[in-house]
Amino acid sequence: MRGYFITFEGSEGCGKTTQINALAKRFEDEGRTVQITREPGGTIIGEKIRDLLQDPINKNSINPLTELLLFSASRSELITSVIQPALSRGEIVISDRFTDSTLVYQGLARSIGIPIVQKLNKITIGTLKPDLTILLDLDTEIGIKRAMERQSGKLDRIETESLDFFKAIRKGYLELAKNNPDRIKVINGILGIREIEHQIWEIIKGKSK
Ligand code: TMP
Repeated sequence: MRGYFITFEGSEGCGKTTQINALAKRFEDEGRTVQITREPGGTIIGEKIRDLLQDPINKNSINPLTELLLFSASRSELITSVIQPALSRGEIVISDRFTDSTLVYQGLARSIGIPIVQKLNKITIGTLKPDLTILLDLDTEIGIKRAMERQSGKLDRIETESLDFFKAIRKGYLELAKNNPDRIKVINGILGIREIEHQIWEIIKGKSK
């Protein structure tokens, strides 16, 4: 059985983690082996990079290009040591974020530009491409409020960015989805947890027909 690669995307507080866990359970109930992973992170090196990228103490000491390269370094490790091996074993891989995050956060919101990020993404991932991307779209203010509540007001380095930054992220994601309608499926993140779970499962059932 061939492996299947699903990525989840969305701005802060959109509910990715809850849905990823629910989806993994559905696949496991069907007898599939699932690898859940996340970006940045998912490997020993990747988790160290994640700490560097998220620690608010580094607020003014990581320039946009360094940030882009750190996210890419974490991804390179994750692909070779987790994603590719699992897909080769015929497993389902569900990643909390992937290259679309880099396109919108670094390419658009940090103004590095889409072409540079696309080039680097290509070097990092080669021919690997998600089979399906679920974009949980949520009003920016609601998402930030949820993230604040979840972390009891302690936001990480990126979460302390301005509301305009996150509005640009949301807009960028919706644009990406418009340009990749076969791969990226948009779900309204304001819906209830069960309804979102149901919609995601319907999309997957539709894809496997
Ligand atoms: P999260 O795992 O809680 O969503 O946090 C990851 C943070 O890193 C989030 O603010 C989005 C950001 N990010 C980027 O800016 N670029 C990337 O390529 C990735 C994978 C994440």
